[in-house]
Amino acid sequence: MTIYHKIFDKITTDFKEYEMEDILNLPQYYKWPKMLLENADLEFHIKTQSSIYNEYEYDKWGDLYKQVIDGKATSIEEVRSIFFGEDVLPAKWQNFYYKVNGAQYSQIQSNLISLIIKKYQPENIIELGAGFGSMMFGVINTNYSKEIGYYCGELTSTGRKLLKNISVFNGIELSVFECDFHKNLSSIDLPENSIIFTSLAICEVPGLGDDIIDKIIALKPKVVINLEAVYPTHTNTIMDLFVKKYIKYNNYNTTFQESLKQYSKDKCIKIHSSSESIIGRNPLRPVSLYVWSPT
Ligand SMILES: C[S@@+](CC[C@H](N)C(=O)[O-])C[C@H]1O[C@@H](n2cnc3c(N)ncnc32)[C@H](O)[C@@H]1O
Repeated sequence: MTIYHKIFDKITTDFKEYEMEDILNLPQYYKWPKMLLENADLEFHIKTQSSIYNEYEYDKWGDLYKQVIDGKATSIEEVRSIFFGEDVLPAKWQNFYYKVNGAQYSQIQSNLISLIIKKYQPENIIELGAGFGSMMFGVINTNYSKEIGYYCGELTSTGRKLLKNISVFNGIELSVFECDFHKNLSSIDLPENSIIFTSLAICEVPGLGDDIIDKIIALKPKVVINLEAVYPTHTNTIMDLFVKKYIKYNNYNTTFQESLKQYSKDKCIKIHSSSESIIGRNPLRPVSLYVWSPT
C-alpha cells in the first residue's frame, strides 16, 4: 500500500464523477492508435531546443496570452477551458480510464499535487516549467495560505506573462521567474527547504541528462514531486507498447526515470514514493509520480 493511499482514494472519487471508458475504444477519440499502427515507416518527430521554445512561446502560450489580454478569461477555470476546449479523451487513473475534457483532468491532477504537498506542510512551493499555471493555480486554489510563498519558473516569456496576469487578476501573490532546465538553476533567488514540483515539463525535453536532478538538488528542497511522463520500463501490455512508440515518435525525454532510479541507488536521493504510469490526460502518455528528497 502506498503512503498516499488516502490521497489516491480521494482522486479515485474525483474521477468517479465521470463515465468510465474501455481503452480499446481509444481510436474513437483520436488519431494516434491508427497512425502508429498503420504507418510502419512513420518518421520520428525531430525536436530541438528552439522548436520546443517556439511551440510554447508562440503557438500554445502565445495564442492563449492574446485571448487573456483581450479579456476573454480571468479565472484559472476560464483560462483552462479556453486552452483545453471541450475535447474528451479517456484519461488514465490507476488501472481505469475516465471520459474527461482537459480542464476537468487538469483540475483533478492539480488536486493530486495539492494533497501531496499538504502532507509536507510547506512554507514555500515552487513549480519549475509551470506553463500558464494550470497546476500551480489549482494548488493555490485548494491549498491557499498567506503564510506560504508561491513561485513559478517558466521558459517562455508568454508563459511568464500569463502567470503574472492570472495572478494579478485573481489577487494572488505569485513570484514568477525565468527557468531553463538547460541552465544552472541555483543562480535564481529561491527559498531553500521548499516543496518543488514539476508536471509534464522535464519529459518535454529530450536529451536532458542526470544533471537536471543535480540542478534541482542544488536548490536544497525539502521534497520534490515529479509528475512526468516516462518511458515505460516494462512492456507487459499492448498499451505499454503503444506508449513506447508514442514517446519515441514524439521525441519526448526517455531517460528521466532511469536517472532518478540511479540517483536513488547511489544514495544521492531518497525516493519516498513512486507510482509508474498512474495518471494521464493522454492515455498514450501516462504520467508517473515520484516523490523524493535529497539525502
Ligand atoms: C506541457 S507544458 C506543462 C505546463 C505545466 N507544468 C502543466 O502541467 O500544466 C510544458 C512546459 O515546460 C516548459 N519547458 C519546455 N522546455 C523547458 C526547459 N528547457 N526549461 C524549462 N521549462 C521548459 C514549456 O515552456 C511549458 O510551459
